[in-house]
Amino acid sequence: MITMRRLGSTDLEITPIGLGCMQFAGQGIVTQFYRPLDQDTIGSIVRAAHQGGVNWFDTAEMYGRGHSERALTSALTSIGVTPGQVRVSTKWAPLGRTAANIGRTIDARLTALQGFPIDLYQIHEPHGSLSSITRQVRAMAELRTAGKIAAVGVSNFSARQMELADEILRAHGLRLASNQVQISLLHRAIEHNGVLETARRLGVTLIAFSPLRSGLLTGKFHATPELMRTVRPIRRTLGGFSARTLTRTAPLIDELRAIADAYGAVPAQVALAWLLTHYSETVVAIPGASSPTQATASSEAMNLHLTDAELDRLDTLSAAQH
Ligand SMILES: NC(=O)c1ccc[n+]([C@@H]2O[C@H](COP(=O)([O-])OP(=O)(O)OC[C@H]3O[C@@H](n4cnc5c(N)ncnc54)[C@H](OP(=O)(O)O)[C@@H]3O)[C@@H](O)[C@H]2O)c1
Repeated sequence: MITMRRLGSTDLEITPIGLGCMQFAGQGIVTQFYRPLDQDTIGSIVRAAHQGGVNWFDTAEMYGRGHSERALTSALTSIGVTPGQVRVSTKWAPLGRTAANIGRTIDARLTALQGFPIDLYQIHEPHGSLSSITRQVRAMAELRTAGKIAAVGVSNFSARQMELADEILRAHGLRLASNQVQISLLHRAIEHNGVLETARRLGVTLIAFSPLRSGLLTGKFHATPELMRTVRPIRRTLGGFSARTLTRTAPLIDELRAIADAYGAVPAQVALAWLLTHYSETVVAIPGASSPTQATASSEAMNLHLTDAELDRLDTLSAAQH
């Protein structure tokens, strides 16, 4: 039995784990992170996540200029999931655009989603737009008021930028639902930069991206370091993939593996279970998957409950990394 989490102060109930769909980009810059997947594989990943109880999917315009949005919704339709049965979140890409572009492109986003409504629409990042954050958030509020989207979120926003976004939305009778930021056992910046404290105070959900630190927390690169050579350059750089990283993080990975063995689980599941428990209600996670087996493993992490002693050991080993 999976306990749902509320998305911000909306009435949307989401599972603690959603599926990250950057892996479905198919084309463009994002394929410098992950190799493109064919539609059959995408279909089996989406089916595995859905069968594992996942009730929401996070995509973005930037993931292949709509390719991920189309691939996701084609996959949902092919497995018999109809609009409204699951939640879909997507993101507006601010780079080189003004806030007016938000209203101008919303119909293109809805077309790419092929009948699935936008339950959460996020500003992908606070930088790169030709307009201020204030104007961007106002344009998002107008979409919400016009009924084009169900909730407004942001991504990669600082604590101060979250405050600003929420203040602007409140002037429209709305609230900020979420901020999508990087969070994992190997990336705990939210605990020190004010984002966690601000999210709790404002009732904003934090959506953890790269919750497996782009795959490092699965332990497969520690077991077979040569695998790092197959990792695409941008992913390798942003994930900090290096021999030094493997050495530094080895004690944490060993502990993940030991705990996983005791439960008949895999390290990735333990890393996700820690994340969902450590930050309690405030944080949900969107692990990505390049195979159905990975999607199944991540969704099953929702049923893994660690003891206080296990959580403490992971906390201590992870804190030593920061
Ligand atoms: N808002 C933003 O700025 C932003 C930025 C980055 C990501 N995101 C979102 O966050 C999602 C997740 O982040 P992410 O994909 O960067 O990192 P992640 O979820 O930490 O890692 C995903 C990768 O880990 C590997 N993996 C997953 N489960 C595994 C398992 N059970 N066993 C072995 N390997 C496993 C797979 O890599 P292999 O290819 O090695 O199989 C998979 O592609 C993305 O899909 C995207 O939607 C958002």
